[in-house]
Amino acid sequence: MSTAYQIIDHSYDVIVVGAGGAGLRASLGMAEKGLTTACITKVFPTRSHTVAAQGGISASLGNMGEDDWRWHMYDTVKGSDWLGDQDAIEYMCREAVPAIIELEHYGVPFSRTDDGKIYQRPFGGMTTNYGEGIAQRTCAAADRTGHAILHTLYQQSLKYKAEFFIEYFALDLIMDDEGVCRGVMALNMAEGTIHRFSAQMVVLATGGYGRAYFSATSAHTCTGDGNGMVLRAGLPLQDMEFVQFHPTGIYGSGCLISEGVRGEGGFLVNSEGERFMPRYAPHAKDLASRDVVSRAITMEIREGRGVGEHKDRIYLHLEHLEPDIIKERLPGIAELARIFAGVDVTKAPIPVLPTVHYNMGGIPTNHYGEVVTLKEGNTEGVVPGLMAIGECACVSVHGANRLGSNSLLDIIVFGRAAAIRCAQIMAGNAAAPHKPLAKNAGEAALERLDNLRYAKGSYNTAEIRLKMQRVMQDHAAVFRTGEILEEGVEKIAEVFHLFSDIKITDRSLIWNSDLIETLELDNLRGQAVVTMNSALNRTESRGGHAREDYPNRDDENWLKHTLAWLDAQAQVTINYRPVHLYTLTPDVDVIPPKARVY
Ligand code: FUM
Repeated sequence: MSTAYQIIDHSYDVIVVGAGGAGLRASLGMAEKGLTTACITKVFPTRSHTVAAQGGISASLGNMGEDDWRWHMYDTVKGSDWLGDQDAIEYMCREAVPAIIELEHYGVPFSRTDDGKIYQRPFGGMTTNYGEGIAQRTCAAADRTGHAILHTLYQQSLKYKAEFFIEYFALDLIMDDEGVCRGVMALNMAEGTIHRFSAQMVVLATGGYGRAYFSATSAHTCTGDGNGMVLRAGLPLQDMEFVQFHPTGIYGSGCLISEGVRGEGGFLVNSEGERFMPRYAPHAKDLASRDVVSRAITMEIREGRGVGEHKDRIYLHLEHLEPDIIKERLPGIAELARIFAGVDVTKAPIPVLPTVHYNMGGIPTNHYGEVVTLKEGNTEGVVPGLMAIGECACVSVHGANRLGSNSLLDIIVFGRAAAIRCAQIMAGNAAAPHKPLAKNAGEAALERLDNLRYAKGSYNTAEIRLKMQRVMQDHAAVFRTGEILEEGVEKIAEVFHLFSDIKITDRSLIWNSDLIETLELDNLRGQAVVTMNSALNRTESRGGHAREDYPNRDDENWLKHTLAWLDAQAQVTINYRPVHLYTLTPDVDVIPPKARVY
């Protein structure tokens, strides 16, 4: 290694990057299967963004009425606007039931029905009998479900002796000349030391990149670090044009107000006092899928029926609910509304606005969690040694639009699937010693770190980040047009290039938040460019991607996944993958023919 940095080397069977629900479920599963497992995380595990997940986790347990995993699968395929891979969706909905029972046995303190079963609430797009009735499918621990899951999984991971490298920032993947992932480089933020982790398998569980936008329900740590590393490794990201706006972020702060509120009977009202959702979705009303509700709110505001001083928000009412229901099932919401909107929810409505909430796109994987890419001759192949799970991955179970409460499910089912798959792969080479890393392994990552650490340009990190966030907010919003996106592509490329004129004022390596935020911005800017270009490229409307100049879904030309590569000059190369329209069990009529409308 020719750099001045001293390297501390580590070797494990598996390195998991990220300690949210997906990373912890994978770490626990790997360790339980006897694999030496280390989890690298930039925040303390129980501070990962999963802690903010409120409403619940879907599974057709049938505790509150008849249910069936096939109905769940149908809802998810339909909710995805037919872009979801049906083999993966089948896997997720089928495995949901044992995965939740397992969580219960691990100790997740779910809310209970009077007869002691896991409590389940209605959520948007979740139906019975292929769209006929409203399902109660979302298992909840009051409105703090993510919090409950995260704490339980961390405790279980410790029980099985997964090792944690806490407050370590992952810098880059170590890829060998044959395209195999061999490990990851990381900076210990507390001590300023550099670590090189070699592993038979690296599992990225680094979450979404909501902070590419100005207003997001995501924590400030949601900077898509794994996606950034993948782009720098020359691998593609998939379906990045699909960004979900949650209909009910608190006006001003962007804090999430759970869909669980509407599941418990809350509803949206415009300035004319009208419950407007039945006009847009006569059947599902306020519990229509998120893309539908977000567009409806935006239309109401555009047409002058917004509320408040600037008519730029909508009211969410829950004053009509029994105070005991609010206390028991929505205590966190009541607290958030009080702190961030100054509202007592038993007396007044909450002002809300669609707010960036989730990235359907991410690192392409199969339903085992293995990362895939296009290889020579445009054939699809696995990237050996690399997996991705959770929001950073695009399995793709959410397609063009995710149903509420399918995200907690995704992280649990695919965290578990990755552990199962990894154990199978390792069974073949468990005793095999790690191949030695190349002499210069990790050097490029350190050069990048060093360049940023000593950067002496004109713009500070916050200035460039704000410009990026404004461009994304203005040019890749709920509604898009070719003209606005074209301008967005130009503007986001300018922001991308500003980064080469960045300045850092703190040169130290210990708790250097200036440097860490710059590394995060480096990850974000690539994803922002890919998102904008992918959105311009897709000339149809589907799920979360609503083009006013192409208002219809166009299955003939666009029933395919976007794959996008990025080079150092902000040039995006686009190719495609077919959507998996087949199921894992072809003999089971999972989706009834009447519903097969693609
Ligand atoms: O509305 C919510 O509670 C969010 C849930 C989700 O995004 O799945």
